[in-house]
Amino acid sequence: MASRVAPDEVRTIACAGVGVIGGGWVAYFLAHGYRVVAWDPAPDADERLRRLVDNAWPALTEIGLADGASRDNLTIESDLVTAVADADFIQESAPESLDLKIKLLADIDDAAPPQVVVSSSTSGYGMSEMQVSCVRPERTIVGHPFNPPYLIPLVEVVGGDRTAPDVVEWTSDFFRHAGKSVITMDHEVPGFIANRLQEAMWREALHMVAAGEATVEQIDVAITDGPGLRWPIHGPCLTFHLAGGQGGIGHMLDHFGPSLESPWTRLVSTELTPQLRDAMVAGCDREADGRTIDELVAERDRGVIAVLRALGRL
Ligand SMILES: NC(=O)c1ccc[n+]([C@@H]2O[C@H](COP(=O)([O-])OP(=O)(O)OC[C@H]3O[C@@H](n4cnc5c(N)ncnc54)[C@H](O)[C@@H]3O)[C@@H](O)[C@H]2O)c1
Repeated sequence: MASRVAPDEVRTIACAGVGVIGGGWVAYFLAHGYRVVAWDPAPDADERLRRLVDNAWPALTEIGLADGASRDNLTIESDLVTAVADADFIQESAPESLDLKIKLLADIDDAAPPQVVVSSSTSGYGMSEMQVSCVRPERTIVGHPFNPPYLIPLVEVVGGDRTAPDVVEWTSDFFRHAGKSVITMDHEVPGFIANRLQEAMWREALHMVAAGEATVEQIDVAITDGPGLRWPIHGPCLTFHLAGGQGGIGHMLDHFGPSLESPWTRLVSTELTPQLRDAMVAGCDREADGRTIDELVAERDRGVIAVLRALGRL
């Protein structure tokens, strides 16, 4: 069996399923100088894909194209077997249906050179449940992007029960080399990290709308003119580190801990044990990396102003 190319030697990427996400991946990989071979069974897929890539190209050009990047490096194949034949890496972005993913991943596994990593864009299925019909499940993995994949940096990488550890490492290295921000997860959690967080908020939003407690507009403004402005800079944990003033997250948890344990939400809340409190403090200290509260406040404020200006809200 031929050996797998190194993550920084990937030249040709096959994208199977090129709708919103797969098409976004195609645009991203083209802009980063890769040769891309796309396949999608829909009759209008070619036209949709070319439109999506053309629409994304100005933004990608503004950010900066890699040497040799060109839309001419895109080939669209009409059959899966040809599409994956010369691939160094494969990204699957077909509809979110477990049966469809199980069959498609098995078909890709049958057709692709045996050493090539096969990654799925799934938003929530674990690879353990999708790799069940693959002959070589060890090379299948989740690489979960965010819409649009050509602008949002994050990819969550997580293997299934039968994914080989070196495939997890290779895939994380590949996405990093391709310019992505990578979270490599050791545990297969439904929805991964970011979607679990998004879904928690989404669940609350739906409760409030259903109960007539908030409008859709109020919920969106609550985020875009509220906490959402802080999240591009610090994320929810370090944001609360600053909510505790000079006492940081420790003071914040001591102050609000009792009310956190009361039913603020309609969800079952986690018991705030001393261990959890200490883990949160330690995590924020690690993230702060020696920066004082005042330095973090200044960093946050500079960032919020820059985002406001960038969004035309000043
Ligand atoms: N939309 C998002 O925000 C988002 C974000 C992250 C991950 N994802 C995941 O990406 C995947 C694709 O979602 P999407 O939003 O791009 O959906 P989409 O409907 O826009 O695109 C799906 C594409 O798959 C094609 N397709 C249909 N049957 C197929 C098959 N058997 N084999 C290959 N392709 C087939 C369709 O023609 C279509 O072009 C899903 O797994 C989804 O969970 C979506």
